[in-house]
Amino acid sequence: MRFDVLTLFPDMFTSYLKESILGRAIERGLVEVGLLNIRDFAKGPHRTVDDRPYGGGEGMVMKAGPIFRALQSVERLEGRGPVVLFSPQGKPFTQNMAWEMADYQQMILVCGRYEGVDERVRSTCIDMEISIGDYVLNGGELAAMVVIEAVSRLIPDVLGGERSNREDTFENGLLEYPHYTRPQVFRELEVPPVLLSGDHEKIRVWRKLQSLKRTRERRADLLQNAQLSAEDKAILKNLL
Ligand code: ADE
Repeated sequence: MRFDVLTLFPDMFTSYLKESILGRAIERGLVEVGLLNIRDFAKGPHRTVDDRPYGGGEGMVMKAGPIFRALQSVERLEGRGPVVLFSPQGKPFTQNMAWEMADYQQMILVCGRYEGVDERVRSTCIDMEISIGDYVLNGGELAAMVVIEAVSRLIPDVLGGERSNREDTFENGLLEYPHYTRPQVFRELEVPPVLLSGDHEKIRVWRKLQSLKRTRERRADLLQNAQLSAEDKAILKNLL
């Protein structure tokens, strides 16, 4: 899968994309990331990318021309996905959206800065606007990295053989159960004995219980949409 990122700060991405799972995925050619500096598409001696808003008011607006020309320069692969703009006004990003995106050959990610982008770019070139949460960042770069990472780890072979995303939080609509590793006692806190029992069925049920408990305590909203089995419902009933 290929991501083409339009940004004023391509350097923000370079070290992040070199590290860890994503770095290896890129090295192995499973994921490609193209970085385009929007300023390279700006005109005039100062290569201006922003200007004052019509109608007055605080802050600056990203000009339509440079983004438009940068978008024109990106080769669009067959099977490409949406051209995405990041902003706090976008649709909230979810794991389900990440799964849908993982099927595309390509995505084009536009990182807004300043007060936002000229509305005419938004209305003519953008297929989808995404927010990564109800807070305001200085620009869309971190949001683009969030999407690149969340989508990449769903691409086959990106996570090595022993790793899996099937049990991740959100994959079944629930938060994950707690994890423990050695030592068995840490600051007088013991690992729950069931995890040492070797009884896989007991462990499975314990984990399910913890997962449901956590979800109910921390994110009751998720339970509304989670696909609960008869066993889940029985466990939940016992929790009440
Ligand atoms: N740009 C600024 N804030 C943002 C957010 N919360 N999500 C996506 N892009 C943003």
